[in-house]
Amino acid sequence: MSAFEYTIGKTLNLKEEQEKTLQTPKLPANIILKGMFWTFDVLYGVPRSLPKILVLEILARYPYWAWENGAYHLLSKLYSSTEKAPQAEVEKALRHIRMGREAQDNEQCHMLLCADLCHQKGIRLSWAYHFLLPKIMTLTYFWITRIMYGVRPVWSFAMNAAFESHAEHEYMLYAQEHPEFEHEAVESVWFQYYPRQRSLADLIRRIGLDERDHMVHSLEEVKRLQG
Ligand SMILES: [Fe+2]
Ligand SMILES: [Fe+2]
Repeated sequence: MSAFEYTIGKTLNLKEEQEKTLQTPKLPANIILKGMFWTFDVLYGVPRSLPKILVLEILARYPYWAWENGAYHLLSKLYSSTEKAPQAEVEKALRHIRMGREAQDNEQCHMLLCADLCHQKGIRLSWAYHFLLPKIMTLTYFWITRIMYGVRPVWSFAMNAAFESHAEHEYMLYAQEHPEFEHEAVESVWFQYYPRQRSLADLIRRIGLDERDHMVHSLEEVKRLQG
């Protein structure tokens, strides 16, 4: 059995998976992530909430974009040379582009669903909290990841794994803290791009499992890069 187990496409008992998450410790966050999570709590409050999760989702796409951007940059560099591009390097870049695209699309669905739920519930953030502060955070996070990817890619994959581990736990705790979500039906136009769920609690747990998959994917890449 592979050490890297994915949940995507499997029919799972979401409540059992939630329990598994809650019984598993989070991956340790580095100083950058600790600063980011602290900033989140200061700006958006300590309690978990839909708008806080929405901002987390806005941010979550950026490491994947940074890998895609960095890998394209590497390909351009390799193919600007008159020397034959080393196949292993090219394949690594192609793999990172694929990883980046797949996860970005998935995070995008999370963001669309969270934003739609906020609208449906009449939750509105001010311009500063909805646009300005996330913009500053995303730019900072993008460039930190992009620089890490350029200097030593394994650093950026390890940091992303810890970010995703945090996100997985946040979702499972959010579902646990709101037993009323078990009976709340959920509807969104964006279910045309994402597996429809029976209740808001199941949607939150399913998104949490996607975050687990993202974490596992990053850990698998760390292992691959370290040989
Ligand atoms: Fe997400
Ligand atoms: Fe994620």
